[in-house]
Amino acid sequence: MNTVFLDSKMSDDARRASLYAGQLFVFSPSQCSLELCRFAREMAQEAFGSLDPQSAQFSLPVEQYVAILADLKPRFIHHPTCKELLSRILGELGCDLEKTYFDVPRMRTATHGGYLTAGIAYAYHPHRDTWYAGPMCQITWWMPVYDIEPENAIAFHLRYWNHAVRNGSAEFNYGEWNGDGRRNAAQHITVDTRKHPRPEEPVELHPQVRLICPPGGLIVFSGAHLHSTVPNTSGRTRFSIDFRTVHRDDAMNDRGALNVDSACTGTAMGDYLRCSDLTHLPPELIDRYEAGNAVCLEPEPRRSVGARRRSRSSVRPRAGGKRSSASASI
Ligand SMILES: [Fe+2]
Repeated sequence: MNTVFLDSKMSDDARRASLYAGQLFVFSPSQCSLELCRFAREMAQEAFGSLDPQSAQFSLPVEQYVAILADLKPRFIHHPTCKELLSRILGELGCDLEKTYFDVPRMRTATHGGYLTAGIAYAYHPHRDTWYAGPMCQITWWMPVYDIEPENAIAFHLRYWNHAVRNGSAEFNYGEWNGDGRRNAAQHITVDTRKHPRPEEPVELHPQVRLICPPGGLIVFSGAHLHSTVPNTSGRTRFSIDFRTVHRDDAMNDRGALNVDSACTGTAMGDYLRCSDLTHLPPELIDRYEAGNAVCLEPEPRRSVGARRRSRSSVRPRAGGKRSSASASI
């Protein structure tokens, strides 16, 4: 069963356990999330000058648009104000700031139509964040910067929660991606030749769930959820912010979602910063994740919290899994 919790008051421990079991959470805008949203809007407005960031694509040649984003996005991502606000947002939502680690918030853009779908505004195919070397305890937080609607939202493909998809994640190495793929994103304007981990079999995109919340609201999901960028037909560019968190105790105790098909190597663990003091996770813990996520041979719904880790040599991604007995029920 997949459930969407709206403005849930449950503890962070209980919330993480629910997320690892495939549930989704939506939070209304808070004081700090609205501050982050405002900050993103101000930076975007400054970058586009007299143009409305949501419609600037209709007034600019795509090369110029890409150049603006190539300057705007890294400035936003690494701005100290963002780090401060992320910690405060997580504190507002009951996270233990001594044990919760976040990575820097990405500003994403999804342009209307086929104007720009590669490189710096890559339109994400169905994927799990864990295919990109996120640990199984990774939680993803997603926030619209302006109003969104079903035509420019994010889609969840719930039937794949514990149903493996044959995919290219085994070819994905996080160190190589950081060294090349991400740095060169702005060079890909029409066709994206970076090696993204993609499904390697047809994916049933429907039925799918699109969650709509106001600007500054937060949609929270496990990094193991299959999701995609909705092809934008809204007439406006979508701006969103997303960031990821891990809880140190979960990382140390191998708690997280069940891994049904992620086979990438390397790890994003080295990117996370502790909310309280911006220090990294202990190096020995990061090293433990370098080999990648271990794949469970069989889905074990009853053990959805606490994925097993095995040596990579002993496991292979399953080419197909049993269909969840409780796929999309919403
Ligand atoms: Fe994603």
